Amino acid sequence: SNRIMLGPLVAAIDQGTSSTRFLVFNAKTAELLSHHQVEIKQSFPKEGWVEEDPKEILQSVYECMDRTCEKLTQLNIDISNIKAIGVTNQRETTLVWDKETGEPLYNAIGKPQCRWLCAVWLDLRTQSTVERLISKTPGRNKNHLKHKTGLPISTYFSAVKLRWLLDNVDEVAEAVVTHRAMFGTVDSWLIWCLTGGKSGGVHCTDVTNASRTMLFNIHTLDWDPELWISWGNTNVCIVDLQCLGDQSAALVGQMCFQDGQAKNTYGTGCFLLRNTGAKPVMSDHGLLTTVAYKLGRDKPACYALEGSVAIAGAVVRWLKDNLGIIQTSTELEKLAASVGTSYGCYFVPAFSGLYAPYWEPSARGIICGLTQFTNRSHLAFAALEAVCFQTREILDAMNQDSGIPLTQLQVDGGMTSNRLLMQLQADILCIPVVKPSMPETTALGAAMAAGAAEGVSVWSLRPEDLSEVTSEKFEPQINPEGTRRFSKRRSSMPLTTVAVSLNMGE
Ligand code: G3P
Repeated sequence: SNRIMLGPLVAAIDQGTSSTRFLVFNAKTAELLSHHQVEIKQSFPKEGWVEEDPKEILQSVYECMDRTCEKLTQLNIDISNIKAIGVTNQRETTLVWDKETGEPLYNAIGKPQCRWLCAVWLDLRTQSTVERLISKTPGRNKNHLKHKTGLPISTYFSAVKLRWLLDNVDEVAEAVVTHRAMFGTVDSWLIWCLTGGKSGGVHCTDVTNASRTMLFNIHTLDWDPELWISWGNTNVCIVDLQCLGDQSAALVGQMCFQDGQAKNTYGTGCFLLRNTGAKPVMSDHGLLTTVAYKLGRDKPACYALEGSVAIAGAVVRWLKDNLGIIQTSTELEKLAASVGTSYGCYFVPAFSGLYAPYWEPSARGIICGLTQFTNRSHLAFAALEAVCFQTREILDAMNQDSGIPLTQLQVDGGMTSNRLLMQLQADILCIPVVKPSMPETTALGAAMAAGAAEGVSVWSLRPEDLSEVTSEKFEPQINPEGTRRFSKRRSSMPLTTVAVSLNMGE
């Protein structure tokens, strides 16, 4: 019939914290042909707890795939041309399931409060576990495992969440004894289900996700027997397959393949990764060392320095769902732009403690500098500034670690459609912010990696493709006196520093 001939297509399942998406690209041109997105419910059953339902996550993947294929068929595009599907996912979020029944195990029947099943990376319930672990290290050193894992001991990573599940959920403990328990991050769960589940699903993960568990040695690129001592044994195999943690996928999608290239992705949190090449570089300024990607069995691993900010887009959802000052996320920009200043109001959204560079699980959010003049518009503006100030702190740390300051910042992710945020970010960083015109870089990276693994000739793994990328640049705005729009005090005292001082009663 009238089928459109496009050649090979590549696709990606992008399972993020706030939503799931399925996207299909033309492998030769990277053109996004169709996609579908489904929002994921989050539950906050207790102060600091953040949970999601693994079955809802799985259903959302099926729904997105079905709907996208329907849309492609309506466009007369032959879906049998999809030659590879990559999986990219929210990292660290942890679950345990029963290999005989295929059911997630943290859903204690008859306990309605436990209907939600996986401990999301943002979850703070392990704060006391973390404190206990740190207190046992020589010199109470949160960086005790860093030489192996690249990570500080923190609530953020999977190992402590697994410890909590083993210690607090009877079904999990029982399943361990009867050898039915399967542990994994979201990639493992999805791949196991999609490859047959209880009738023989593949139980695996990749190096980028593994490097966020705190059980993985980033130098040997394998599980570390010493780190596993208090957790039991793992049988999760590590494979070089079409699966990448979402921040790694964004680095690939932004084509940051050279040592020194960096990107910042504004999702639920925001994550600035700088490629450090074949060498894992240890940070002296509170950043993580992580496996950036390993695109094939015979290819070397590439490492990155990462600055992780827990709350970015999540602050928008909070303003909408908890305060109700906006009805939709897109309203935030208009509201903030209507005043163009926070009038001295500061917002530190430390809802899940503070991540890089502080790693302080006991910090909590604050809004300060309020007067009777302050209204919801100022609050909206302060929320956008908070995202930018947090990124500024990460960038400062990154520049100090590498000694070579970044001259511009490549950005992507949902929040980058907010032009006010992008301009504020450029102003607060004092360097240009560059946004690709196709903002779905996380999915593109995962689809490219999957295509390459399947032998499809994929766009953008060729250097000449780089020149074809179109982007939009936000230059820092300098006023006639040559000073930044923002006062010195603001720029020299990042917001989170204020928060840490206040939280610590200084
Ligand atoms: O480490 C958590 C990160 O992978 C989540 O990303 O895009 O869902 O905020 P995102």
